[in-house]
Amino acid sequence: MDVFRIEGPVRLSGAVGINGSKNASLPIMAAAILGGGKSVLRAVPELSDISVFSELLGQLGCKVGRDDNGDLWIDSTVIDNPVGEYEIVRRMRASICVLGPLLARCGRAEVSMPGGCAIGDRPVDIHLRGLRQLGAQIHLKNGYIVAEAPQGLTGKDIFLGGPFGSTVLGTANVLMAAVTAKGQTVIESAACEPEIADLANCLNKMGAKISGIGSPRLTIQGVKRLEPVEYGVIPDRIEAGTFMVAAAITAGEVRLAHCRLDDMVAVVDKLRNVGVAVERSDDGCVVSRRGAIKTADITTQSYPGFPTDLQAQFMALLSLGEGNSVIIEKIFPDRFMHVAELNRMAANLRKEGPTVIVAGVKKLMGAAVMASDLRASAALVLAGLAAEGTTTVQRVYHIDRGYERIEERLNPLGAKIIRESI
Ligand code: EPU
Repeated sequence: MDVFRIEGPVRLSGAVGINGSKNASLPIMAAAILGGGKSVLRAVPELSDISVFSELLGQLGCKVGRDDNGDLWIDSTVIDNPVGEYEIVRRMRASICVLGPLLARCGRAEVSMPGGCAIGDRPVDIHLRGLRQLGAQIHLKNGYIVAEAPQGLTGKDIFLGGPFGSTVLGTANVLMAAVTAKGQTVIESAACEPEIADLANCLNKMGAKISGIGSPRLTIQGVKRLEPVEYGVIPDRIEAGTFMVAAAITAGEVRLAHCRLDDMVAVVDKLRNVGVAVERSDDGCVVSRRGAIKTADITTQSYPGFPTDLQAQFMALLSLGEGNSVIIEKIFPDRFMHVAELNRMAANLRKEGPTVIVAGVKKLMGAAVMASDLRASAALVLAGLAAEGTTTVQRVYHIDRGYERIEERLNPLGAKIIRESI
């Protein structure tokens, strides 16, 4: 198991390129199931989550590989085993998004029911509700979701809202099932996240007829079949936000290339509120901080609100704020595993239900801390860049799920991070 040894404090400066989006890549890889041939995807990051998803597609019958130029290809000519095994789903919940396309393509799918994870219970009831409304028969057997539609699926008006708003992968699943359903489907309360818009754009390039992309109402005219595709995924707005906080927390100046600021309006707004300059450039932006970190109140929301996937990173930043900040988590109310770890680094955080009161401190101190989930781990790395002394982050595999060799990208900017195998 790898650990990071981080020496701080440092001031970051220089330029970094933002990779393709993990959370856009995963459903788009699932969409390749519908192509029935060889699709080629550009800018898919080299992450452990992508490897696990490739393994899953392989088990279904697809062939998956990378070209020398890094393009990922998926040949879905043969799907002879429409089963998402427990062994894979247990490692990555996003595996659930093969359910919709498998059902549409094969008329039957079995996917292990995902359990909870470090950030909460994460039910999939809304996914199943949507698929049932398209005509699927669904039951649970030995921990597996068994979905059947031997006569095919039929378009319907479907409301996909839930107690926490829209669902990202639930929308992906129902959308991918609906593209080849008979007639028209309207998904109300669809997720508006850029990753879902990217999936819909990719599906349209494959021959689907989806309108309302980027809005909470998606209208889908069913088509008979989709074709394989060549498609480039969007840049990762969460990775970009993490690098922005890295610049901010170290009072540095970092140029981000290949970054879509238009997908990050709420994030940029918060950064500016706390005294961080974000200047648009040709292909991205320049992020810098000269003065003190001011306070901010943050409530996480569905897009275009402030993303839950940047909550932990902003908590690290606000820990060094000039006063009290309040962070309310409205998407995953238990997503606070980083709170106790940041407190070990001398932050002053108090959790009250889904709210954390952040009392700013003058400095953070290096400590041994434990990564618990992807974004919590990123927050610990960010805190380690600004903290005095050595921070050791254990269980780095959580970070590798979503950030491609983060230390090799932060070190050229002035970070001092060593990866050690223990
Ligand atoms: N929910 C339900 N029922 C459902 C589905 C969701 O109640 O059937 C609830 C969830 O428990 C949560 C809320 O609805 O309270 C939103 O969850 P959502 O379904 O949108 O999450 P997801 O699709 O499982 C994706 C990202 C997450 C990101 C969330 C929210 C991928 C692979 N995962 O998860 O990303 O936090 O949307 O934006 O796209 C990450 O990258 O670190 C990560 C966790």
